[in-house]
Amino acid sequence: MSIDVRLSQDAQKYLATDQLVWFGEVTDSDAEHLRLGLPEDQRFVVDLPAGPEDLHSGIYGVRPMELSLPGGSVVPIAGLTWVGVHPDVRRRGVLAAMMTDHLTRCHDAGVAISALHASETGIYGRFGYGMAALMLQVSIGRGTTFTAPHLEEEASGITTQLVTMSAPGVTDRMRACQVRLAGDLPGTIVGSADFFALMSLEPAEALRDKEARRVLFARRDGEDVGFVGLRREHKWERARPSGTVVVGTFCGLPAARLALARRVVDIDLMGTTKLEAIGADDPLLGWIGGPRDTGDLQTWDSTWIRLVDVGAAWSLRSFEGDCDVVVEVEDRSAPWNAGRWRLTASGGSGAARRTDDDADVTLDVAVLGAGFLGHGIGGLLRAGLVRQHRSGAYAELARAMRTLLAPEPSIGF
Ligand SMILES: CC(C)(COP(=O)(O)OP(=O)(O)OC[C@H]1O[C@@H](n2cnc3c(N)ncnc32)[C@H](O)[C@@H]1OP(=O)(O)O)[C@@H](O)C(=O)NCCC(=O)NCCS
Repeated sequence: MSIDVRLSQDAQKYLATDQLVWFGEVTDSDAEHLRLGLPEDQRFVVDLPAGPEDLHSGIYGVRPMELSLPGGSVVPIAGLTWVGVHPDVRRRGVLAAMMTDHLTRCHDAGVAISALHASETGIYGRFGYGMAALMLQVSIGRGTTFTAPHLEEEASGITTQLVTMSAPGVTDRMRACQVRLAGDLPGTIVGSADFFALMSLEPAEALRDKEARRVLFARRDGEDVGFVGLRREHKWERARPSGTVVVGTFCGLPAARLALARRVVDIDLMGTTKLEAIGADDPLLGWIGGPRDTGDLQTWDSTWIRLVDVGAAWSLRSFEGDCDVVVEVEDRSAPWNAGRWRLTASGGSGAARRTDDDADVTLDVAVLGAGFLGHGIGGLLRAGLVRQHRSGAYAELARAMRTLLAPEPSIGF
């Protein structure tokens, strides 16, 4: 049975379906979250004939976003989000139909890359998404010392400024700063101005025992050169202040990061700073001497990448190594990608062409997504997750795709 996916025509029903699937507290500001988060022409629904009457059987949405790639180009991508299937009709192929619909629409619109944050790791690999960036959650103590002798001079010219995220103009400043720096921080995903405004929208219900989100900007010569989003949480232990500063988005080049990191471990009444999403190669671990000098360090998946159009995507990024490998791509959800491609990289530039030559490597398209931002995929051969027909061919491909520094994590969307 084919499942029809169409544009949403009832924002209230779309929202109510999401509220059932995600079972959070329903607030008056949910509709505003929908309005700011998702353009009306990017909300899609499924209504199965025998599905629920008052709600949709399934919904998904797409945020128009931009992604910075190895080499510094910043390209439009589809940010897949608001994915949900009514509990009464789960495991009947609604998600699969929505994924096919999404990939077809992207392909028709010439969008070569789709990205997402996964609610569960088992869901999206089967639709060709690969885990493309890791993020670290790191807790460090008040007054932690950061040692970076060759950044001191540059960092000394940087000041910090604490403001409230919802104050006029603040999210526009955050976005402008991230847009300026994205090319230097591959893996960064920049949302629309509305998406940034959404971050500062915190209804009273969400703030019952919390302060509103703040932003700490790093500034040099009157210009924003970085920022962190943060919130302080009170805690008193045996009459001593021991609160936690929770730092979300962390944006900036190394000297700005150093200035910001020093400031967030020196906030009055706080005992711990928890950085929720820094990259696997963030300089912070080097500044403190390694993981053992953190209070806690955990690793999670951040961005998942799907090459909607292998041929177009391959030449969008640059490469730090050369390769010339014939890859048999397996792709069930986007059959136009399936088959043999000669993937080359030379002098930094990549080219992908169709070929009838024998395959050197056979892999699922998700593997190319996993390596697309520079995250290492070399271990997948040893793990038995790709097949190699010419000795050394997979290493050639994986080395060319890998970047010296791991990609930046992206903000949850
Ligand atoms: C996850 C969710 C969208 C799946 O929808 P669904 O309509 O039941 O999925 P489908 O019936 O189309 O399943 C497609 C395939 O994915 C698999 N799958 C679905 N959900 C899965 C999960 N959570 N973990 C692993 N595999 C899953 C199915 O087994 C099926 O596999 P098959 O092709 O080998 O048969 C749905 O369960 C849901 O809404 N969950 C809560 C919200 C959520 O997690 N959304 C994702 C946001 S990132």
